[in-house]
Amino acid sequence: MSVENNHSEHWGSRFGFIMAAAGSAIGLGNIWKFPYIVGLNGGGAFVLIYILCILLVGLPCMIGEFAVGRASRSDAIGALKKLAPRNSFMPKLFGGYGLGLGTMLLMNDSLELGCLVLVLSALMLIWGWGFIGFANVFVAGVILSYYAIIGGWLIYYTYLAFTNALAFKETAEASAAFVQLASNGHLSAIFGGAFIIACCVVCWFGVKKGIEGVSKLVMPLMLGIILVLVIRSLTLPGAIKGLDFYLTPRFSNITAKGVLEALGHAFYSLSLGMAILIVYGSYLPKNRDIVKSACYVAVLDTCIALFAGFAIFPAVFAMGMNPAAGPGLIFNILPVTFNAIPGNLGWLWSGLFFILMFIAAFTSGISLLETVSASFISRLRMKRRAAVLLSSVLIGSLMVVISYSIVSYNAFPKLHDIIKEIFGSAKGSFFDDVDFYCSSWILPMNGLALAIFSGWTWGVKHISREIYRGTKLEHVELDLNKHRMILQFPMASWAFFIRFIAPVMIFMILCYGAGLFKKILN
Ligand code: PHE
Repeated sequence: MSVENNHSEHWGSRFGFIMAAAGSAIGLGNIWKFPYIVGLNGGGAFVLIYILCILLVGLPCMIGEFAVGRASRSDAIGALKKLAPRNSFMPKLFGGYGLGLGTMLLMNDSLELGCLVLVLSALMLIWGWGFIGFANVFVAGVILSYYAIIGGWLIYYTYLAFTNALAFKETAEASAAFVQLASNGHLSAIFGGAFIIACCVVCWFGVKKGIEGVSKLVMPLMLGIILVLVIRSLTLPGAIKGLDFYLTPRFSNITAKGVLEALGHAFYSLSLGMAILIVYGSYLPKNRDIVKSACYVAVLDTCIALFAGFAIFPAVFAMGMNPAAGPGLIFNILPVTFNAIPGNLGWLWSGLFFILMFIAAFTSGISLLETVSASFISRLRMKRRAAVLLSSVLIGSLMVVISYSIVSYNAFPKLHDIIKEIFGSAKGSFFDDVDFYCSSWILPMNGLALAIFSGWTWGVKHISREIYRGTKLEHVELDLNKHRMILQFPMASWAFFIRFIAPVMIFMILCYGAGLFKKILN
């Protein structure tokens, strides 16, 4: 039996744990993407659907990940290995299926993809659930490598804002400045490196002093900043048009595609499917109520996402700008919007906004780095500091490669060929490809596997015990000791969601990503 040397660490307080977990959940997705997809998909009507997705799929999965973490007190790979029954047939089923699929691909001339599928399936058969844990940790590392680049841009933009260098009058000027940054590999790599170093320093100091200490400090600061921006934005003349765009329920704008988008975003926003919450859960003392903590995290995450819309849209509409999608909104539209606010304080509003975005990205980055480091600590028996350094160097190296291929593959034509050979096609840049495969494919697949693991493999019987620990029901359950409590309402309904609803819904996200619904939805 291995001695998990990192698991002498614990969160110091419930508040600290909630701040850290909410810090992971609240990220670029909340401030960057959520408001925009709400505006486009039917405003208030979409918000209702999103909240339902959080409740029906997000919360059960989150509770499951926390419980798996706390019960195993191990990193992601160790957790799944430790809790899975010896002869769990799921990995065999999927591994076997994968072998079949790989062979078919080979026969259909998809040589590279076929080989990849075969190798992964073989690993799944050999490692069992440990392989799923590994896939979770792997994707956490890859996601951090490009998340860090955006985090780096935010550091740079905060600096630009406070030196009044973002005082653009036209969106064309702002977007020219942004394109210049994105196509400058040196700058992206340097600032991305600074972002990784910042995360590295926090993880270096450990769970309580580092992650919890920083989260307790910056999360309330973030809440303060967002409130200031919301007030500023809502009190602008003409703000009401933005509110109208953002929140008026337009049920006729709700489409099946929008529902799936809400579902996918709920999943991403809560940081599910990357074993982050398993790792954070593993530092929870036994006397904490997992369900209550998860509810707090989900509520905070949703509130910040909603507030972000209140900070952005009233201002954008009041200044007569057009809301745009993705990076365009943050880096092209908002600096111009803030600059146009009367009172010559554009630099302050932009500066506060970019600090807000930075904090959101930073606490998410910390959770990603911690997930990777925890696995090095447990699997390779490394000391925390060495593990944090090693993870940072590995992730940083990939970050550098991605930095030089944000707008195109020009710097690495070979990479383009490899991606194209394996997947049959490649997007415009390595950055886009990595993002696409991670968020549209690996993340939901991992999420599906984790839901199956908590609902079926480890099983409701064991998980109910873990969930009741630290609650008023703990003793009732332990006294009965016959798992009768699981038949009672709260656990039975949770079990229903994690076993049936969550896997089916996540499977639908995957089908949507694969374009299977395209014909039906259009
Ligand atoms: N939850 C984060 C967001 O809303 C994204 C994220 C996912 C961060 C997974 C870390 C890990 O942006």
